[in-house]
Amino acid sequence: MSKPKKIPANPISETRTKSQQSPVALSARFIEPAFSAHRISQPTAEISLDLGISWVEVRLHPEGIELPDGELLSWTALRRLMESPEACFEVQDGELLKIQAYSAYTGRHYTLMSTERAPTLLISGIPMHRIKDTDPYADTLTKIDAIQPVVGQVLDTCTGLGYTAIQAAHSADQVTTIELDPTVMEIIRRNPWSQELLDNPKISQIFGDSYEVVENFLEGQFDRILHDPPTLSLAGELYSTDFYRQLYRVLKPGGILFHYIGDLDSRLGHRVARGAAQRLQEAGFRSVRPRKAAFGLVARK
Ligand SMILES: C[S@@+](CC[C@H](N)C(=O)[O-])C[C@H]1O[C@@H](n2cnc3c(N)ncnc32)[C@H](O)[C@@H]1O
Repeated sequence: MSKPKKIPANPISETRTKSQQSPVALSARFIEPAFSAHRISQPTAEISLDLGISWVEVRLHPEGIELPDGELLSWTALRRLMESPEACFEVQDGELLKIQAYSAYTGRHYTLMSTERAPTLLISGIPMHRIKDTDPYADTLTKIDAIQPVVGQVLDTCTGLGYTAIQAAHSADQVTTIELDPTVMEIIRRNPWSQELLDNPKISQIFGDSYEVVENFLEGQFDRILHDPPTLSLAGELYSTDFYRQLYRVLKPGGILFHYIGDLDSRLGHRVARGAAQRLQEAGFRSVRPRKAAFGLVARK
């Protein structure tokens, strides 16, 4: 495994200060340099304890790695981590635990999955960001790019790991983000790349079903809407004409909506996009256009 590229700062969470500590989260690709250094009897190695956001020098001992706080992680535990290259782990009392959660509310499993950059969220095995030929951070930027300039009040219909909300908050006045399942918070709290969601005062989080929550917003309340739902099979109501009518109502005249769909060149993506475009128009949106690079549709009021 080659050492991953270093990213100088967390581009998603650029407004976090040094005093705001990220949780420790480990994955094989960011720990491997310790094994390489240990093999050639080096006393130290540079590894990342926050999934690639920053790199620290750690001391290597015959028994394991010494973390900056003095805690020792055994080579035995770390070898088990290396056996699950896509998993992310937290440290609890010297043990490594996979970052995952089960929701009795939705009956779904949530897992944090490592990539070369920001991790993605698997919901019952389905990634919530693009990871093929890209990564969740680049994926987030293409979504944000589709509604430039991102200004004023922004509605983010599906929080997920909070990447779109965090990125939108870097230029907007205020971002309101909605998440159906509070269990997702258990993953967010343990994901270093999501931390700004918890402490950026420009972001307001609401827990509930977007389909219902959106009814409570005022007409024309939002300048921009980011609609990044799970796949149609997981959240069909978020692709319905009734829901699109609500999005239209709460968008300001002149406002822009981005609706993530999936690869528009795939048979499924093409079919879903065609149906969604038709229903968006029925709901009142104009200039409904494919945005292939962002795997979605852009529509205006
Ligand atoms: C594709 S992910 C969103 C990714 C997010 N934009 C990000 O930057 O990480 C979809 C999220 O929507 C949530 N979700 C599913 N149905 C929902 C609903 N009806 N209302 C609000 N959120 C919902 C899922 O739990 C999941 O966390």
